[in-house]
Amino acid sequence: MALEATDLAVQAGEFLTLLGPSGSGKTTLLPMISGLVAPSARRIEIDGRDVTHIEPGKRGIGMVFQSYALFPHMSVWDNVAYGLRMRRKSRDEVRAAVDGALAMVRMSEYAKRFPKELSGGQQQRIALARCFAYRPSVILLDEPLGALDKKLCEHMQSEIRRLQGARRNLRVRDARSG
Ligand SMILES: Nc1ncnc2c1ncn2[C@@H]1O[C@H](COP(=O)(O)OP(=O)(O)OP(=O)(O)O)[C@@H](O)[C@H]1O
Ligand SMILES: [Mg+2]
Repeated sequence: MALEATDLAVQAGEFLTLLGPSGSGKTTLLPMISGLVAPSARRIEIDGRDVTHIEPGKRGIGMVFQSYALFPHMSVWDNVAYGLRMRRKSRDEVRAAVDGALAMVRMSEYAKRFPKELSGGQQQRIALARCFAYRPSVILLDEPLGALDKKLCEHMQSEIRRLQGARRNLRVRDARSG
């Protein structure tokens, strides 16, 4: 996978959308920002701090994958709880955040199901809930509404805008430009 030189600056509170033809590298860029893939050149800064070599879990970034990437062996509820448990939140905090996130995506009644028992759009909503539940301050979404019908799509758009508490600056820049 190769990306052409990319310069990108996102201001705190900004909602930025990458548009481009299929195969142009949109999906390739996101794991570099979140830290799953290391760029061979250039660097990533969050709030002015170089995070290019910081591991994903320590960047405070939430990501929703185009393919959802739900954990197949975990129930819906456990999928959504994952990020909170990783961050060692208390039982009560986990319960409140998971129940809130499931309500937001209108999936509360599916908490006990497993991913393979859900439709594509339902899986996509769980992926969104899993990401939002622990309130990451930078959120990367790879075509997060593609599997939803018009009504759910509009609902999720307004929820995403409402939840957009992101208040950090993100920069992808040339390593040489300082
Ligand atoms: N695992 C891989 N190994 C080799 N090449 C890859 C791999 N994944 C993607 N590519 C190539 O990298 C390029 C960019 O792919 P990417 O998935 O980032 O595109 P995209 O802009 O997200 O497209 P889409 O809109 O279809 O999701 C494509 O030419 C693709 O064929
Ligand atoms: Mg893509």
